[in-house]
Amino acid sequence: MKTVMFYNQKGGVGKTSLAVNFAYLAASEGFRTLLWDLDPQASATYILRGDDGDSPKASKIVSEEYSLDELAISSNYANLFLLASSLKMRLFAEKLAEAKNPRRRLTRILEATKDEFDLTVIDAPPNLTDLSETVISAIDLVVVPLQPSPLAIRSSQVMIEHLESIGLSQKCVALYNMVDQRRAGHRSAIATEEPVGKLAKLRSYIPYSADIEKMAISREPLPIIATNSKSSVAMEGLYNEISNLIYAR
Ligand SMILES: Nc1ncnc2c1ncn2[C@@H]1O[C@H](COP(=O)(O)OP(=O)(O)O)[C@@H](O)[C@H]1O
Ligand SMILES: [Mg+2]
Repeated sequence: MKTVMFYNQKGGVGKTSLAVNFAYLAASEGFRTLLWDLDPQASATYILRGDDGDSPKASKIVSEEYSLDELAISSNYANLFLLASSLKMRLFAEKLAEAKNPRRRLTRILEATKDEFDLTVIDAPPNLTDLSETVISAIDLVVVPLQPSPLAIRSSQVMIEHLESIGLSQKCVALYNMVDQRRAGHRSAIATEEPVGKLAKLRSYIPYSADIEKMAISREPLPIIATNSKSSVAMEGLYNEISNLIYAR
């Protein structure tokens, strides 16, 4: 089983939108996919039409009393399962930190479902806590979405430097989201092969698109509401690039 997390300590950069679409595309290719909403704001849960009642207590996950597949619910889409979030999930970090070896515990929790799921996609909460470091060390790939503006890059720099200092930056790749081709700065950012800070940059990028905002209104993944749109095609390109990366690792 492979594990990918969409992560940035900044909110509003597209983690949830990208995680939902990535998980949906993997599921539609036939991979049994778990979308683990780890953010107590529960936006991914909302988009996939889950609610508070679908969310388990964090202690149920951490205690290993139940496996993730027992706690997950089916979504409206074939092969796509949701581990729903709610305010209850805010205790996950604390509960996991109580384990003797949090990283090993999390690895075991993920491995317990390796026969049930081909892929787990984690929608991360927007803060750099010990939890994020534990999760990053236990998974295959971290996708860091950010806008290609100098200020957004600068503010992600601190996080990127931190990941580097703890030896985790080679697991992380940067992804430009909300790209506006009318802006020269955006055009040159996506054209360069230079890393972002020290993070390798994905070739794919996601344009700014009102259809992505509509996901939260119609509560459906992008390919359903805007089939063949520019943003949908970009999302598929992103899916292919990321899956090539994780299966090469
Ligand atoms: N490429 C995009 N184009 C337009 N709007 C976007 C795009 N990506 C995300 N958004 C919007 O930006 C807001 C924040 O996105 P979200 O995925 O919730 O970010 P995060 O999970 O990082 O907080 C949402 O309203 C979402 O619809
Ligand atoms: Mg989010």
